[in-house]
Amino acid sequence: MLDAGPHAERDRMTDQIATLLSEQRRFPPPQAFAAHAIAQPALYEEAARDRLAFWENEARALDWIRPWTTTLEWRLPHAKWFVGGQLNVAANCIDRHLAGPRRNKAAIIWEGEPGDRRVLTYWELAREVGRAANALKRLGVRRGDRVAIYLPMIPEAAIAMLACARIGAVHSVVFGGFSAESLRDRINDAQAVALITADGGYRRGQIVPLKRFADEAIAECPSIRHVMVVQRRPGGAGDESFAEMKEGRDHWWHRLLDPENPHCPAEAMDAEDLLFILYTSGTTGKPKGIVHTTGGYLTQVTSTTRYVFDLRDDDVFWCTADIGWVTGHSYVVYGPLANGATVLMYEGAPDWPERDRFWKLVARWGVTVFYTAPTAIRAFMKWGTDHPARHDLSTLRLLGSVGEPINPEAWIWYRKHIGGGRCPIVDTWWQTETGGIMITPLPGVTVTKPGSATVPFPGIGAELVDTTGKALPKGGGFLTLTEPWPGMLRTIYGDDDRYRETYWSRFPGRYFAGDGAKLDDDGYWWILGRVDDVLNVAGHRIGTMEVESALVDHPAVAEAAVVGKAHELKGQALAAFVTLKEGNAATAELKDDLKEHVAKKIGAIARPDDVLFSADLPKTRSGKIMRRLLKDIAEGRALGDTTTLADPNVVARLKEQYEGQES
Ligand code: PRX
Repeated sequence: MLDAGPHAERDRMTDQIATLLSEQRRFPPPQAFAAHAIAQPALYEEAARDRLAFWENEARALDWIRPWTTTLEWRLPHAKWFVGGQLNVAANCIDRHLAGPRRNKAAIIWEGEPGDRRVLTYWELAREVGRAANALKRLGVRRGDRVAIYLPMIPEAAIAMLACARIGAVHSVVFGGFSAESLRDRINDAQAVALITADGGYRRGQIVPLKRFADEAIAECPSIRHVMVVQRRPGGAGDESFAEMKEGRDHWWHRLLDPENPHCPAEAMDAEDLLFILYTSGTTGKPKGIVHTTGGYLTQVTSTTRYVFDLRDDDVFWCTADIGWVTGHSYVVYGPLANGATVLMYEGAPDWPERDRFWKLVARWGVTVFYTAPTAIRAFMKWGTDHPARHDLSTLRLLGSVGEPINPEAWIWYRKHIGGGRCPIVDTWWQTETGGIMITPLPGVTVTKPGSATVPFPGIGAELVDTTGKALPKGGGFLTLTEPWPGMLRTIYGDDDRYRETYWSRFPGRYFAGDGAKLDDDGYWWILGRVDDVLNVAGHRIGTMEVESALVDHPAVAEAAVVGKAHELKGQALAAFVTLKEGNAATAELKDDLKEHVAKKIGAIARPDDVLFSADLPKTRSGKIMRRLLKDIAEGRALGDTTTLADPNVVARLKEQYEGQES
């Protein structure tokens, strides 16, 4: 799965390493923070002494219906955690908080983009989830059935996920920014029996008509029997014209829930029963359904939320991720709620109606712990310090970063202008596949270095290896995980061969994360980014093959190659090189049309920034497209080694053309 050009990969990493090596700043945890932090240094010692005992202890923090008999069953590459144990995730996230003082505590504080607000206490959340769970049952949804969720960031997104968990249905959340076709493919792969969507959601003042997209999708989804439609805002997006209801199949969420009993017994689920499937991009055109199970996943997200975010009862925790990504699953819903925390959920864009919307939210709700992505931080930097400076951000006490490497400059800006110089920053490395945080500082323990995710979380084993799989004590190489961890993916839904091949074949006996990394003299990890054909655009994973398939699906396109190019805000942006079929003119209109075509096929996040028409693409003599040369062109670099090309003139011509186009 690695790019055919290991030399080019190494050169790129050497450049990045040189930049990062010059980073000498160190930030020890503030003393007052360290003294009272939930995670103390002993945690590392405890986990190092007995890794399994550490995880057992973390699992004991949950409510189990029946205790497990075996902590870990490891038959590489398949892990089972807490075997024989039974629990229910929704009961852990809600019911166990109802007996004590958390009963009336805010579980979810929500603000819609237009400014509408809702606060749900744990008690209210319990009743909503109970009703939704009973409604699902009434529609015939049973334990083990898959339910697709395609919603904006509204409380119902969390309620729907928890309702599925309560009855043992497996949810598959599809990001609301994905197209009808992407939704269709995900529903069909999982054979979902029901879909939960909304008439619409708000984004930059516009209504995103989710139900219309959903209708388009399910026209080709024979497995869907029922659709529940949340009325986002009566009189607003809730206008019935946004949602044509099909008799017998479509049901308004509120009408369905209204008569239901708010009490719904929680299914006793086996620790290894599926909790959810979440699709993510890989190196082929087909997204992978990442499978997460119940006991191990909940253990890891509960434990990491508590220690990494130092979460307490009086915190207001805001993770800005959308529910459609794994960060939204683990650190908006499951991790925080299992800890009985108060979470803030916000529906819309950070620059709507003004570029200070996030800081307004922090001030209004008194957010204490804030977790976001470097792409957002870079946008805030660009927008200027006036926006945060206008608001009282003094409640903040801890900041987090996730999703892509954070450049030291952005880290320092974040610390100074958002954290007021007093808040520790936790840069957390993990993946959809890992379920929870893997490499991260503990905020009261770890001395941080801007740009480094620091060290593995207690109980997690990571090792750097070279191209042959040999472990390296330091330097540059590939990030691998050496031991099974509780929140790890169990397989790819319906494709266990692909699971073995993708994660376990490159370096036998190890999980290969797909990331290049550097390990410094102190054993700190510096993540350099993907080394496979997966791009990270504004913190979102996009496979180059998916975009290429979308492009060649257009009637005018003969061949396409997509590469990532460095982008100031998004980290990476997409550049597409396209050859046209005979008889098609390379016009500006066609360029726009192709961009639009990709957005329609996959979603707006995959829209290429640049499209370049070319008579030929640079290929090796065996016919493989040389993406690294295209990347050199897209990033305006001198061309790398072209000696293996069938026709070196192709790439020289392309470079000229690309540069001509940009000027
Ligand atoms: O390349 C790494 C990058 O995001 C990838 C995982 O993407 P996804 O599954 O969408 O999950 C994102 C949120 C957990 C990784 O392979 N990545 C994630 N966190 C970091 C990161 N790169 C550098 N530093 C991070 N903190």
